[in-house]
Amino acid sequence: MCGIIGYTGKLQAANVLLEGLCNLEYRGYDSAGIALFTPSGLKTYKAQGRLSQLEAMLGENLPEGQCGIGHTRWATHGAPSDINAHPHASGSVTLVHNGILENYMELKDILLKQGRIFVSQTDTEVIAQWLDEEYQKTREPIKAIRQTLKAMKGAYALGILFADHPGVLYAVRKDSPLIVGLGKGENLIASDITAILTYTRDYLLVEEHEIAVIMPERAEIYSPEGKQVNREPCRADWDIGAAQKGGYAHFMRKEIDEQPHALEATISPRLNNGQIDFSVDHVEDAFLSNFRSIQIVACGTAMHAGMIGKHLIEFLARIPVSVNIASEYRYSNPIVGKDDLVIIVSQSGETADTLAALRLAKSRGARTLAIVNVVGSSIAREAERVLYTYAGPEIAVASTKAYSVQTAMFYLLALRIACLNGKLDTGESSSYIEKIQEIPQIVEASLKTAPLCKKIAADLADAADLFYIGRGLDYCLSMEGSLKLKEISYLHSEAYAAGELKHGTISLITDKVPVIAVAAQSSLLEKMISNMREVKARGGFVVAICQAGYNIPEDAADRVIYLPDLVKDELFAPLAAIVPLQLIAYEIASLRGCDVDKPRNLAKSVTVE
Ligand code: M6R
Repeated sequence: MCGIIGYTGKLQAANVLLEGLCNLEYRGYDSAGIALFTPSGLKTYKAQGRLSQLEAMLGENLPEGQCGIGHTRWATHGAPSDINAHPHASGSVTLVHNGILENYMELKDILLKQGRIFVSQTDTEVIAQWLDEEYQKTREPIKAIRQTLKAMKGAYALGILFADHPGVLYAVRKDSPLIVGLGKGENLIASDITAILTYTRDYLLVEEHEIAVIMPERAEIYSPEGKQVNREPCRADWDIGAAQKGGYAHFMRKEIDEQPHALEATISPRLNNGQIDFSVDHVEDAFLSNFRSIQIVACGTAMHAGMIGKHLIEFLARIPVSVNIASEYRYSNPIVGKDDLVIIVSQSGETADTLAALRLAKSRGARTLAIVNVVGSSIAREAERVLYTYAGPEIAVASTKAYSVQTAMFYLLALRIACLNGKLDTGESSSYIEKIQEIPQIVEASLKTAPLCKKIAADLADAADLFYIGRGLDYCLSMEGSLKLKEISYLHSEAYAAGELKHGTISLITDKVPVIAVAAQSSLLEKMISNMREVKARGGFVVAICQAGYNIPEDAADRVIYLPDLVKDELFAPLAAIVPLQLIAYEIASLRGCDVDKPRNLAKSVTVE
């Protein structure tokens, strides 16, 4: 939901800002803009559409200047347009904003009564005008920012320039991400680390309501009360290569291929002497023992990983688990308290609804454990304990490797909880741990289905609608396969529990509506074959995804994708079966000429509710 960047230093800021925005564009791409101190004063350049529109507008001769801010927008208030694009300026103030000012109408009314005139429909311009109003009173940036924050309700990360403070960036945040990148003779601000990896891996986290003042030689952080605070820098272990396409046509395709490595990186630190051990994460056994229930809360793909988690924990540890959509959970007055463990799952660690659900669970006294990919993100900081997944930066809007590592984390957690709960003896636990260790190789082997998936994608790409069916774990996978397909290819699809199809939905099946049947659980295979036959009998084209060695009768499926024969236990089939589902979605979207990495209307990190 919008990306912001700022630079002050020795380089030409326009280059740095445009490069940073390119890396942030996955956060929104309705418009882009930059503002910088040029030899002839503070200048703003902005354009509706992708960053390329702004670049085309700027042409070869970029404006000169060594300090500036930039923004890539996912529109909330005000349609995508040149006027509504950030930066927004008022008097001495020019700023970029990620978030939503909830009381903007109220503040705008006050400003209108004071005779102020607005040019855009955005909430952000209200912040610029309010801040300018405050600034005119004292001409002290920090004081003016603090006064403005008192009036604002909502979420924000702001990058601010004051016209009479050239070379200095000001920044502040609440509920939206913001970091300060520390270079040599240059410093930056950004929504996330991927925007600034070319320049530095060292960064400062900015806490809620803190104000950062950034100059080329130093970066200062001030508490909400205006006192300077000392902050230890963090170091990102992601390198710039991880945030580049590296010869792939799309990030999504690269990230699918990165899964074995991401899984290895996530699993191996948690295995110690043949045991699952979360001591590196400071998640002690007592924290994972003795609760009444487990509640998993997340959005989208992360929630789908949670569905697998529920299945695994209930199967292995026999503890009741619920999976909750974060945006529903937070308004449902959930029955949660000190006897419950709430597991929050998020790649970005910044999803607004997930963060709000975490805060709700904490306020009710629940134990909170976050599974997060982005180090130092809000969810990671606010949860009682964190298990980091090590997928590296995930740039494509469609989540792939993050899903796999979240799922892998649930295997580890389910097994540990089951051992602590006395539901598994040492022998059973060791046998499962051996299988966990094989996950990266299994996924590597599953990637070999790519050529077949490409062929099958050609059979499916012209469909108007498509169904995914599965039972048990395979139903959870169907949900994720369907989401992946529709979000990037715009081909409408639905996921159905295979047994539920004949309770209404089968009436939609025709020879124009193909069905992908995930049938990787031997215990459910016979039932799945019946369901596939039911579809075939109605003229549907069936693609089956199943384990090696299964006998799928000709009258049940038109195409069959066999998973690698390394899958020895059906409980571990999901991590193999998700790969062809991701590949099919990717190939269909490519064949349909879609912008795979940046699907329309979407943004990677949903920091608004
Ligand atoms: O960053 P998060 O994991 O909290 O994001 C949650 C969802 O927005 C996300 O999983 C989304 O559904 C995927 N990008 C879809 O591929």
